[in-house]
Amino acid sequence: DWTMGAFRAEMIEKIRAQVGKGRVICGLSGGVDSSVAAVLIHEAIGDQLSCIYVDHGLMRANESEQVVATFRDRFNIHLVHRDASDLFLGQLSGVTDPEVKRKTIGRLFIEVFEEEQNKLGGADFLAQGTLYPDVIESVSATGGPSVTIKSHHNVGGLPAGMRMKLVEPLRDLFKDEVRALGRELGIPEEIVGRHPFPGPGLAIRIPGDVTREKADLLRKVDAIYLEEIRSAGLYDAIWQAFAVLLPVRTVGVMGDGRTYDQACALRAVTSTDGMTADVYPFDMAFLSRVSNRIVNEVRGINRVTYDITSKPPGTIEWE
Ligand code: XMP
Repeated sequence: DWTMGAFRAEMIEKIRAQVGKGRVICGLSGGVDSSVAAVLIHEAIGDQLSCIYVDHGLMRANESEQVVATFRDRFNIHLVHRDASDLFLGQLSGVTDPEVKRKTIGRLFIEVFEEEQNKLGGADFLAQGTLYPDVIESVSATGGPSVTIKSHHNVGGLPAGMRMKLVEPLRDLFKDEVRALGRELGIPEEIVGRHPFPGPGLAIRIPGDVTREKADLLRKVDAIYLEEIRSAGLYDAIWQAFAVLLPVRTVGVMGDGRTYDQACALRAVTSTDGMTADVYPFDMAFLSRVSNRIVNEVRGINRVTYDITSKPPGTIEWE
């Protein structure tokens, strides 16, 4: 619409004025905020922008391929895709504590990002997809005591002791405005309308030890679940939907045989900000269809459960 068109033109002028002939680096996560920031900045300064996508091996099915296809092939943005899955999965081996998982991933993420940034010869500016609610949150966080339930590491934006100035073109926007701007910029709907995804990725959806095999299994389950949600036309009515791989094996029957395989849980919630959430009330026919597909198509899974816990008392993620 015209408002977003005007905003887009104004932002581009602001970015040019701030950056001049400087070099900008942007961490891409595949999420909405960093994607919109990257495309907007690229429109303003072209090849003065380089993006770094650190792939921890804990993304959903086809997500990394989609990031490369969208930003490098379609938008012609200079993009470094670093597959660091061996490093991340190696360091996560044997780690079962959720907070240790988060901290391990956060630390490695910054390490790898800095390494790639040095390979590029550094930059003058670091771009971040900071939104207005993030600004408010960090201001109020210094204003009084707060309780940390889970340490949040947002892969889209980076802290670190980097001596770069920040470019934060989305600082005045709310999420729905960022989505509108993304559509205005021609970013595909699969990215612009995507459900939130946590920085630590599938690691916090695999209670217990994380391995590549478990991540592969979970990716298959998650892909079937989301495919069914999309084809039922429910994706946009849900804040977040995902599968969790449970660290438990149970007995089942398949054909003439007994199985002893892993169980998984499905989660879907509605929410406006992720702070509180209600369970999405799927009908049983939908859940049965998803369950049948998962058990029939994913070898290694023989039981499917649906998580009916609201937030509070549950959190959206399992870890
Ligand atoms: P919880 O599980 O705390 O999640 O109810 C609330 C929202 O935050 C997301 N989340 C994270 N996002 N890094 C992130 O960037 C994290 O470590 C993290 N943990 C949870 C979660 O997916 C939900 O949207």
